[in-house]
Amino acid sequence: MEYSNLIIEIQNNILFVTINRPTALNALNKVTMSEINHLFSDFVTNYPNVTGVIITGAGEKSFIAGADIKEFIGLDANQGIELAQFGHDTFNLIENLTIPVVAAVNGFALGGGCELAMACHMRVASEKAKFGQPEVNLGLIPGYGGTQRLVQYIGKTKALELMMTAEIISAQVALELGLVNYVVPAGMEIEKSIELIETISKKGPIAIASIIKTVNAFFDKNKNGFLEEVTNFGALTKTADFIEGATAFAEKKNGYF
Ligand code: CAA
Repeated sequence: MEYSNLIIEIQNNILFVTINRPTALNALNKVTMSEINHLFSDFVTNYPNVTGVIITGAGEKSFIAGADIKEFIGLDANQGIELAQFGHDTFNLIENLTIPVVAAVNGFALGGGCELAMACHMRVASEKAKFGQPEVNLGLIPGYGGTQRLVQYIGKTKALELMMTAEIISAQVALELGLVNYVVPAGMEIEKSIELIETISKKGPIAIASIIKTVNAFFDKNKNGFLEEVTNFGALTKTADFIEGATAFAEKKNGYF
């Protein structure tokens, strides 16, 4: 499908998604959210050879400056619920993708932008990136999963502070809080994201998918993560990757690690 606000490219089996509304600092309007939802629905069927995804924002200033505030004017309660639910459904597709998804955060990651970055499995920030959940300034709360995922990443103490003060934090502070995996010089965030995906691509894809599913189970109130781990560990013993990996280790073959 042709997208109007996403640029999609595949290089060396990595799919690059650029949110492309630079004049609105890549704010997530309805069209962009629908396109993201479309892209990540049936992703593995549509892109069977892709080993990882990198999401970034167009231009040098912003990753994503949030949901499109201009589309919020006049929303009623039902429309608000519908909008938030669609955001949840869309970002859950990203979080549950069974290949690694990295947010290469090149600038502002605010509101829905920070929430999209948090739905990715890892975050690589440019030293110029800025993070925050400033919805309280609009008389709102985060609506695309931020109240839950921010707590998961940085703990309740700092998450409450950031959401209630609307403070915008630097990449370095985001690193110290555990919100991002790496901070790199501006312009290097894609390169570092590629490096991460290439490292992961050398591992068995079935085990990688299982790590993502099992870790996500910790945060799913309908699942017992420990039980999932036991079941998923057992299932992996049937795979060729396991048989090959364990045999290579036992036979001290080069390349085990
Ligand atoms: N929605 C719509 N348009 C936005 C936008 C947003 N979230 N953020 C920026 N823009 C637009 C601006 O309106 C402006 O457009 P015009 O040129 O047509 O006026 C353009 O992008 C450039 O922005 P600024 O002139 O404001 O740039 P700046 O450098 O002075 O400030 C900024 C940058 C600090 C990021 C500022 O734009 C800002 O505060 N943006 C809003 C951030 C925000 O509140 N995000 C949360 C949104 S609510 C949300 O996301 C809810 C949720 O959880 C789902």
